[in-house]
Amino acid sequence: MYRTKTCGELRASDAEQIVTLAGWVHKNRKMGGMTFVDIRDRYGITQLIFSAGLCEMANKLGREYVIRVTGTVKERSNKNFNIPTGEIELEVSELTVLNVSATPPFTIEDDTDGGDDLRMKYRYLDLRRNAVRSNLELRYRMTIEVRNYLDKHGFIEVETPQLISSTPEGARDFVVPSRMNPGQFYALPQSPQTFKQLLMVSGFDRYFQIVKCFRDEDLRADRQPEFTQIDCEMSFVGQNDVLDIFEGMSKHLFKSILGIEIEEAFPRMTWHEAMKYYGSDKPDIRFGMKIVELNNILKGCGFTIFDTAAYIGGICLQGAANYTRKQLDALTDFVKRPQIGAKGLVYARVETDGVKSSVDKFYSQAVLQHMKEAFAAQPGDLILILSGDDVMKTRKQLSELRLEAGNQLGLRNKSTFACLWVTDFPLFEWSEEDQRYYAMHHPFTSPRPEDIHLLDSNPGAVRANAYDMIINGVEIGGGSIRIHESGLQNKIFRLLGFTQEKAQAQFGFLINAFRYGAPPHGGLAYGLDRWVSLFAGLESIRDCIAFPKNNSGRDVMIDAPSYIAQSQLDELNLSIVHVH
Ligand code: AMO
Repeated sequence: MYRTKTCGELRASDAEQIVTLAGWVHKNRKMGGMTFVDIRDRYGITQLIFSAGLCEMANKLGREYVIRVTGTVKERSNKNFNIPTGEIELEVSELTVLNVSATPPFTIEDDTDGGDDLRMKYRYLDLRRNAVRSNLELRYRMTIEVRNYLDKHGFIEVETPQLISSTPEGARDFVVPSRMNPGQFYALPQSPQTFKQLLMVSGFDRYFQIVKCFRDEDLRADRQPEFTQIDCEMSFVGQNDVLDIFEGMSKHLFKSILGIEIEEAFPRMTWHEAMKYYGSDKPDIRFGMKIVELNNILKGCGFTIFDTAAYIGGICLQGAANYTRKQLDALTDFVKRPQIGAKGLVYARVETDGVKSSVDKFYSQAVLQHMKEAFAAQPGDLILILSGDDVMKTRKQLSELRLEAGNQLGLRNKSTFACLWVTDFPLFEWSEEDQRYYAMHHPFTSPRPEDIHLLDSNPGAVRANAYDMIINGVEIGGGSIRIHESGLQNKIFRLLGFTQEKAQAQFGFLINAFRYGAPPHGGLAYGLDRWVSLFAGLESIRDCIAFPKNNSGRDVMIDAPSYIAQSQLDELNLSIVHVH
């Protein structure tokens, strides 16, 4: 036996026992005639004490050496109540060095001195740190609870293929050349969408899969090229059935993982309301600060910028009238950043003796009072106003401003959670650039039955049977009730600009399957990485993925992607053409 106990296990009640531990040297310090070593494993840290004969050997132990020690558990005179094993130490009688270690390139501490790149290059050492390991432990516990919940509700996990064919709708595909079919490529799935629908046609009734998905998109803090979905599908359901089951799953996770009991139903907000009041389809409702449209109040008073704008809107920051000129300038710079793109910011301080705005000369106190009432603002509040030529763009800018203001006012506490469903998304999104409609969710999403008559006359106004679950402004999951008749599916393909041949070539298998008795069905997929990072309070989903990619899509540890040998290219019938 290598060990009789782990490094996180011993307590005062174990005093005088003889035990054997194995682990890594965390710290080593000499004090007088004795040497103290902290030994670490996945379970914790135990203080070892070496005296007399063993001191010399112990002094030579470097950081991250792998050792095995046998000794007697002793109750400490000066106890450390910050760690679970802090009441005891192990008086070592036998020491074996199981392996030596090179000096690690950064300290294996919660607050390490290693930068991002270095930690990623030596990720296996980074994973020894508590902070990172505990994220993976949380991730594992969440998947166990997801499986327990779904199993209890009759779902079964079915694996679907990872080598499929490319469907250029949605994000870009990662492709894999086929050696046996020269010139042809597989694609890695962006999600198992069509397969889970086929499983419904097959009668599986309730499916789920914790599954890797692959998307070749630009990366952000909440996006990785390979990420994990909790993918689910159900037959014979309408929207409310799906939302009920998965609201239940969310509440189960909150309760079992965080100990948070959510009694009330998640609020539901239509996409139109979300855009109107929050400027975003993923509103952070931990705080109010709703957007108020001001066209009716501020237009036509001689301030040309507002008079000629298509949209004027604002938000009210409670108790922020004392913002300094410098703070307001910083907010103006914030909204003018190219990623946000506003032209400027107008502010108004609500004071006891009236409203003082940066464009006072154009507005009478009567108009400004009217505006104050529209926000139900109180003396001491600060109103921030943006305008623009494009309603949606300006709302999105206001959304960014709202989130930034929320951060500054401390309204986005990571340990407070606010969940909601956003429903009634538009079925289609118009692309000015391509002069065509795209499916806002995916082409298999059903229109709301009462809007089907608009498909030909006004496709942009058709609402989808689609929904997203949002927590703290993060899109945690999304799904829809699907189309299950080939006639309607063909019509949607047509509206999306597919010729019959193209639809057959890409989705013929699904259209055909629907000819054999497809049940009404719907489902959703959660982003597991996003959910874990939200529960762990992380800034980036990378921190809950064992071996993530960096922002250029590289794994710097294994150095992927990489060039392949000419012989491999030959075998695959590929040749590389350098364009530049
Ligand atoms: P969707 O594309 O909305 O839906 O994806 C579902 C959820 O997956 C997460 N997600 C991501 N997480 C990390 N990195 C990424 N690059 C990434 N992209 C998406 C999000 C998102 O809400 N097949 C449909 C679901 C359905 O209709 O049932 C789908 O994939 O949390």
